[in-house]
Amino acid sequence: MYKDVSIIAGPSSVDLANGISKHLDAELVPVDLRIFADGESKIKVRKVEKDHCVIVQSTYPPTDRHLLQALMLIKRCSEDSEKVYAVMPYMAYSRQDRAFLKGEVVSMDLVAKLIEAVGTKRLITVDIHSPASLSYFTINAQNISAVGLLARYAKVKFKTNVPIVVSPDKGGVQRAAEFANELGTDMIALTKRRNKDTGQVIIEEKELNCNMVDRNLVLLDDTVSTGGSIVEACKFLRRYKPNKIYAMCTHAVLIGDTKRRIKAAGVEEIISTNSIPGNSAKVDLAGLISGRIKKIIDENV
Ligand code: R5P
Repeated sequence: MYKDVSIIAGPSSVDLANGISKHLDAELVPVDLRIFADGESKIKVRKVEKDHCVIVQSTYPPTDRHLLQALMLIKRCSEDSEKVYAVMPYMAYSRQDRAFLKGEVVSMDLVAKLIEAVGTKRLITVDIHSPASLSYFTINAQNISAVGLLARYAKVKFKTNVPIVVSPDKGGVQRAAEFANELGTDMIALTKRRNKDTGQVIIEEKELNCNMVDRNLVLLDDTVSTGGSIVEACKFLRRYKPNKIYAMCTHAVLIGDTKRRIKAAGVEEIISTNSIPGNSAKVDLAGLISGRIKKIIDENV
């Protein structure tokens, strides 16, 4: 039992925080949240008396609200504890880790500075969009990979028809290779281009030398947000006459009617972790995150 640890259940990640507290056998501290008519959050947490204080708050949409709530919680808890750790499985703004166009703000740099400024001593995130984002932190900021968890889920689900793993872009090659290796299957990576002004996705692949006829495919990505990448990849892959196409990701942001559009493009099912709660969140991160918290506390890593 981790008697010296308080797990703070951030409003965006109540179930995940509960799961983490169960894995650690640590106390779970509820958060009292009120949203004012103008949209502001008012947060109340009781005094934290344990040595280590872990705030669990994933910063998925409404992104700015969840981010600000995380900052408020960290600020509040660091008034009581020296050892405040932030668990932010979906890291807001990690896709804005550099100025892609002239005049753009490097938002990840700002977010890292804010997280540190309120008293965070360590940060844990999951499958952050780019490792470069972590370089903006001066505190110990750790990224953990959920690829193994997702692959193990897929191994059970696709026991009888082992899928080919497809990364919608070359940036995901390593992730797809690791996933495919765990399943003992093949992988391919498409060539994707995104218009930096409009965000529109284009699959640039000309032709693939891979027999997909009647094979299941798993499109694997870190994040599915607007679904542009999955929808375009799916349209492209259909011409190779596969059996079923599944989408698996760590973070199912699924903005607006994305889920419907992905299904309409022919995706059988979307499977994600619970970094973002929802119907697709079938892979639980609580064990993985607790393992890292244990390591931090036991070995001071
Ligand atoms: C981009 O490089 C990422 O790996 C994902 O492919 C991207 O974030 C997915 O976004 P969307 O669903 O909007 O295409």
